[in-house]
Amino acid sequence: MFNLTAQAGTQDFGHGATSTWGFNGAVLGPTLRATRGEQVAVSVTNALDQSTTVHWHGMHLPASADGGPHQPIMPGQTWSSTWKIDQPASTLWYHPHPHGETARQVYRGLAGMFILDDPATSVATLPHDYGVDDIPLIVQDKKFDDAGQLDASPSGVTGMGILGDTIAVNGTVGPHLDVTTERVRLRLLNASNARSYNFGFADGRGFALVGTDGGLLDTAYETDRLQLSPGERAEIVVTVRPGENAVLRSFPQDLGMGRFDRFAGGDDTFDVLQLRDASALAPRPAVPSHLVGLPRLPRTEAVQQRRFELTDDAINGQKMDMNRVDAAPVQDSVEIWKLVNTDGVPHNFHVHDVQFQVLSQDGAAPPPPLTGWKDTIFLPPNVPIELIMRFSDYADAQTPYMFHCHMLYHEDSGMMGQFVVV
Ligand code: C2O
Ligand code: CU
Ligand code: CU
Repeated sequence: MFNLTAQAGTQDFGHGATSTWGFNGAVLGPTLRATRGEQVAVSVTNALDQSTTVHWHGMHLPASADGGPHQPIMPGQTWSSTWKIDQPASTLWYHPHPHGETARQVYRGLAGMFILDDPATSVATLPHDYGVDDIPLIVQDKKFDDAGQLDASPSGVTGMGILGDTIAVNGTVGPHLDVTTERVRLRLLNASNARSYNFGFADGRGFALVGTDGGLLDTAYETDRLQLSPGERAEIVVTVRPGENAVLRSFPQDLGMGRFDRFAGGDDTFDVLQLRDASALAPRPAVPSHLVGLPRLPRTEAVQQRRFELTDDAINGQKMDMNRVDAAPVQDSVEIWKLVNTDGVPHNFHVHDVQFQVLSQDGAAPPPPLTGWKDTIFLPPNVPIELIMRFSDYADAQTPYMFHCHMLYHEDSGMMGQFVVV
């Protein structure tokens, strides 16, 4: 049983006392953790002065427990949600999802991690000592006005929403981590409104990508860059040697707009976290190359195909309507969803309740970071993507789940639709 209270507070980001919102504290929320097979119950109290919801992002659960816009919690009220954990070990998260207000509420500080454990889909030799060699990193960009308060005005000309110039990690600006082990697992969550990051290390060292949104990969992928759009997560393992200071950085990136990328933050560089080594580091095993078995959903199992075109704050020409259901997949059926972004600015796409697999990206097999379970995927302009997913277990014709762009200003502006499982 978990208890969360959404409340107002103040946090010092280096600009004095900034008004924020958090769960059980001034900013962000406790890391929740549960094991496969467990029946979890969360009770959420709204101590704010406006309505909110709490959505369990990445979680497979009944629509009535999902915490989307149809489960509002009025000021002073408590909402309880219960479901059975039945999905692989993974790094999920939670955040508000009130109709039209998600961007502002997340930006003010309401977000937390939800870690799932499952012996059958984890690897015992990966670092797993929470807070020691297994570190949650909630990465967000903030902007401050002259009074040191959060500036929530949309930036620039590209309609991306808020792009901040200050990076906060777990609510801290300029953070460092005292490393005590020779390998460290970082659970990265991009909980920003609009900014994508292109993570790497300042000295060019590589790292192993071991997990994505919905669980570990089949095979560890050695790389030196990893792009995460808003809502996406990744688990990476980095090796540290005594006497080295490693800096996790976000590098310039390709957002698909060519020379206009810079208007969406594509040219920006930020230091994210300094890893400070102790003089002696406790040994940790090497990352095995094979991680977990990952059953593929075959294209031939799909009984339905749908196409979603993201353009101009709408999906297939329609803005979010709480009273319109856009798709009704059949319980336990497999579907292929074809996505295309046709309005020239970056979007991404998130589906509630399911974890999907990527069948193709721009007509080709997906690159290694897109071969695992995902619930959110970057959608650069004019790059078609095909997803495949199964709508198992929970049918409820009355209560919709959401699918949407996770760039929160776009979501709030109407780039969202609803589906029911029947
Ligand atoms: Cu993380 Cu519908 O949201
Ligand atoms: Cu979600
Ligand atoms: Cu978008």
